[in-house]
Amino acid sequence: MTDNIVIAIDGYSSCGKSTLAKALAKKLHYIYIDTGAMYRAVTLYLKRNHIDLADENQIKESLKNIHLNFHSRDYQTHIILNDEEVSDEIRKMDVSQMVSEVSTIKAVRKELVKQQQRMGRSKNIVMDGRDIGTIVFPDAPIKIFMTADPKIRAERRYKELMEKGEDITLEEVFENIAHRDFIDTTRLESPLTRAHDAIILDNTELNEEEQLQFVLDRVEQHIAN
Ligand code: DC
Repeated sequence: MTDNIVIAIDGYSSCGKSTLAKALAKKLHYIYIDTGAMYRAVTLYLKRNHIDLADENQIKESLKNIHLNFHSRDYQTHIILNDEEVSDEIRKMDVSQMVSEVSTIKAVRKELVKQQQRMGRSKNIVMDGRDIGTIVFPDAPIKIFMTADPKIRAERRYKELMEKGEDITLEEVFENIAHRDFIDTTRLESPLTRAHDAIILDNTELNEEEQLQFVLDRVEQHIAN
């Protein structure tokens, strides 16, 4: 297949990108790729192995030992780091606190972008992240840039973490999101920015069904043209 469709979803942390991406993939029978999970899994590896983030050589050596795979079951992200399923581990607060810093490292981005481009070649995919419409698939026919009120985002994430039994306050979650927004938008390597041809989706006041329909309408338009 050469006319494969890539739906690129970028946006701020905890905006509901993955919820929307999963729903779209399910509805359209596309493959869902969560690129944030890849940065998180690399972070987990570097953290566990006490790698100095300022040491480029150590990072490059580590990347050779990191093998990432997705197991696609029921459109959830099951990410495998060197034969170990780490899907829950990578969502914990200690990884969340370190991942933005790891994602500023040029060698890490270069390697992960290469892997993401390989995964999306010749398949219909929904990929979410921060640089999908700008760097990974700049020619994607459908690009969505998601945003929402930071307070609402913090409340949504806090609820999720509470359900998982994490010991954290709403203020800490808010701080973490604000910190990640700052690093994501100001880093030198591929900062989070809206592609000029991306459609903005502010979901502060939209439910999941409305967001899904918003993108499905775009997909239909694209296919009809
Ligand atoms: O989407 P997320 O919160 O799981 O992403 C975790 C971190 O990874 C986020 O702080 C920014 C980074 N990231 C990135 O720099 N580029 C991507 N394509 C995806 C995530």
